[in-house]
Amino acid sequence: MNIAILGVPMDLGAGRRGVDMGPSALRNARLAAALRDVGHVVRDLGDVTVPIPETLDKHQNQGLIFLDAILSACSSTCQRLLDLPSDVFPISLGGDHSISMGTVPGAARGERAGLIWVDAHTDFNTPSSSPSGNIHGMPVAHLVGLGDEHLSSIGGGWRMRPEDIVMIGIRSVDRRERDLVREHGITVYTMKEVDQLGMTRITEETLERFSDLKRVHVSFDADALDPSFAPGVGTPVPGGLTYREAHLLMELLSESGRVTSMDIVEVNPILDAQNQTAHLMVGMAESLLGKRIM
Ligand code: ARG
Ligand code: MN
Ligand code: MN
Ligand code: MN
Repeated sequence: MNIAILGVPMDLGAGRRGVDMGPSALRNARLAAALRDVGHVVRDLGDVTVPIPETLDKHQNQGLIFLDAILSACSSTCQRLLDLPSDVFPISLGGDHSISMGTVPGAARGERAGLIWVDAHTDFNTPSSSPSGNIHGMPVAHLVGLGDEHLSSIGGGWRMRPEDIVMIGIRSVDRRERDLVREHGITVYTMKEVDQLGMTRITEETLERFSDLKRVHVSFDADALDPSFAPGVGTPVPGGLTYREAHLLMELLSESGRVTSMDIVEVNPILDAQNQTAHLMVGMAESLLGKRIM
């Protein structure tokens, strides 16, 4: 398969600095070489240009911190992915999770697509429900058309359908955000369902839901993993996915052959030791893209 890597070194959507170094950390953990070893042809497209927060005025634009710069970076990201040939598998490297407002419509290529949101958080706040004003807590709400009209129009008229979204690993949802997730009928497998049903059943149900869709995007927030394995994230939450649960999800998705694109987001090497979290996430990409134990 042809794989394209695109870095989006943006931390404007997060409450603390450092995930802008995610693309470097993942490249340093030898992402491209690992995928070549699996047998893929890998091209690195470099990074989207994103301003650093120190050069910007951090005013809240209707509850949205750094709105203009995030809008512009997500729009360029979307366009870079739309410009790729449609059989290329793009892997976008965050950066904070707000990049997915650009990567999801960019990877969907105007078609209906399934979205697997692997995360501790539902990221379904709107500007009015958000307790923080941090845009990385809001991408999914904007993908379905809620919230700020500029952010929700990044893919032109393309919209994610709520019934095509499955979230896995969830364990931190804000109070008003929870009502929004319920109202919109998003399928959520919290950590309770992961414990109760197991990852095999969850993956099977997810693939069944997406059986008619040509494109499936995996957006993997490193904080879905338990912080004991993935300490290098800005918003750690205890009680996350184990190393094996996460690999099994990637392995089963890989066997299905249904996934067409991926994001790796929220890796913060400042909070890490030995670049552990980036190495872990490179392992996730390898499993999703066909590395087998035997
Ligand atoms: N729910 C919190 C907020 O909206 C945290 C969001 C964390 N999101 C993330 N992509 N790490 O501010
Ligand atoms: Mn997230
Ligand atoms: Mn998260
Ligand atoms: Mn468990």
